[in-house]
Amino acid sequence: MTSGAPMLELDLRRVYGAFPTGLSVVAGLVSGEPAGIAASSFVAVSLDPPLVSVCVGHASTTWPRLRTLPRIGISVLGAHQEAAGRRIGARRPDRFATVPWRATPGGSVLIAGAPAWYECSVERQIPAGDHDIVVFRVHDLDVAPDVPPLVFHGGGFHRLCPPAHDP
Ligand SMILES: Cc1cc2nc3c(=O)[nH]c(=O)nc-3n(C[C@H](O)[C@H](O)[C@H](O)COP(=O)(O)O)c2cc1C
Repeated sequence: MTSGAPMLELDLRRVYGAFPTGLSVVAGLVSGEPAGIAASSFVAVSLDPPLVSVCVGHASTTWPRLRTLPRIGISVLGAHQEAAGRRIGARRPDRFATVPWRATPGGSVLIAGAPAWYECSVERQIPAGDHDIVVFRVHDLDVAPDVPPLVFHGGGFHRLCPPAHDP
């Protein structure tokens, strides 16, 4: 991979996947129904103003339906929400059927029991290769610090281990 040969998508995915992330759900109400995607690319960007970002693939069929909404929810999934993450991250029509969710008055869709959530609007969308970096302004947020997060690493789901005791 250091030979100057073109980088293969498989190699990129494997090496990108060495960086552990959480898993978020980016979702809103479209014609009264929840629509959303799972995204491991969520990252906090700025404190003042409060901004976060998600990288969205150009192939996404859901993002064009979300991006014009006045408010979009971003839920950080908990360790107990692996099934919800898999379901919402799959290319299937009924993603929210078995996932408890709620809509805010502004039309964001948030996953019930998530350890953290943000209610956002789209601030900027910056083209970057085969994805867009979507910068969101945060209008409301909350955290449940005692709910452990779901971890995405090496293409699989993991949980945080309690810290080892010093001998
Ligand atoms: C663990 C996981 C992480 C994902 N992260 C992203 C991401 O950061 N950005 C993205 O555009 N899609 C991501 N996806 C894919 C989307 O959730 C979704 O499957 C994709 O947008 C296709 O669905 P759509 O056509 O309804 O948009 C991820 C999927 C999984 C399972």
